Amino acid sequence: MAVRTAVIPAAGMGTRFLPATRAIPKELLPIYDTPAIQFVIDEAAAAGMQRVVIVTSRAKPSIEKYAASASTDKVAVSVVYQDSPLGLGHAISCARDAVAGEPFAVMLPDEIMGDSSLIKELVKLYEKTSKSSIGLKKVPPTEVSSYGNVGTSDTSSENVVTINRIIEKPKPAEVVSDLVIIGRYVLAPNIFDHLAAIRPSSNGELQLTDALALLAVESQLLGIVSDITRYDTGTPMGLLRAVIEIALGRKDIGPQLQTWLENKFRS
Ligand code: UTP
Repeated sequence: MAVRTAVIPAAGMGTRFLPATRAIPKELLPIYDTPAIQFVIDEAAAAGMQRVVIVTSRAKPSIEKYAASASTDKVAVSVVYQDSPLGLGHAISCARDAVAGEPFAVMLPDEIMGDSSLIKELVKLYEKTSKSSIGLKKVPPTEVSSYGNVGTSDTSSENVVTINRIIEKPKPAEVVSDLVIIGRYVLAPNIFDHLAAIRPSSNGELQLTDALALLAVESQLLGIVSDITRYDTGTPMGLLRAVIEIALGRKDIGPQLQTWLENKFRS
């Protein structure tokens, strides 16, 4: 079945961006002049998604306001609500009715990709195999414990792996590989049954990785190891890097910014 819907979870508290997030949701913080979430909407549209469903919170009305004018002739943008921030897994389950029994993409808005190639590849892999498929990247050993770490079995092609276990933010002794989950997923609709079956983790949140781990045990989860350009805009320093690098790459302002930076650092 074709993948036509992308779910963008945007109902979190954004505590790492306080005090800014008292006034502006993290997902609307600008990358120069464009809200971060717009990059993800554009990526979804470029990958052929016809619908974008943003999961938001009633405490963040500016997201709904932004979504109201974000539809184009290619993609229809709508919102659903998560009443309280009970975790990423819970946020995804709030989109169950909107997804209406179809496979769907999940795209985290605090990770901005250089292009739409990874989500396109994940859609292709899902359409070929009917198995949930998620983005992975190789990281140095010191970084593994900040992410969901995956164990893999057979490698059916160069960069496609079958995932057999997932450990969320492992301690050094628990690390099983150098592969970690990044924020692009294409999920079969049975993920909602798994989300309904899991219990909150120790921090009280329903974790998407716990539901994915159930798929992994059944050999129903594939990964694509990607070296896509990726900006982690979930932290202030990551956002700052994204703003500088993306602005440097723009034709209208890049040369001006580069000259300013060069002058600033000239000894
Ligand atoms: P994060 O954990 O990075 O976002 O979730 P957060 O909770 O807002 O950030 P901090 O830790 O407080 O700084 C990844 C994505 O999932 C959404 C967030 O909005 C973010 O886009 N999310 C997270 C939800 O929609 N609901 C939740 O309950 C948690």
